[in-house]
Amino acid sequence: MPVIKTRSRQKNTIAGGSMEAAAELGVLFGCFKGVCGKCATTVLSGLNNLSALTEEEAAMDLEPARRLMCQCTIDKGTVKLDLD
Ligand code: FES
Repeated sequence: MPVIKTRSRQKNTIAGGSMEAAAELGVLFGCFKGVCGKCATTVLSGLNNLSALTEEEAAMDLEPARRLMCQCTIDKGTVKLDLD
């Protein structure tokens, strides 16, 4: 079962599940469409457990370890986010 973690909390999720579940862990969201950038979050580990970069993320020219939580899904393993 895939797991989304911060430094102090974690949430079990499902394979292929939206990273929007990270809202419960403190990720802030705005548009949910990959436009506003509010959900951009640094991934400390498990970047390869996320789905491929979307066109919206590529257009935003994020630093390599940052992903838009409204755009990616978690495929497997553990993804640790740079939050508390
Ligand atoms: S919520 Fe706006 S880009 Fe993710």
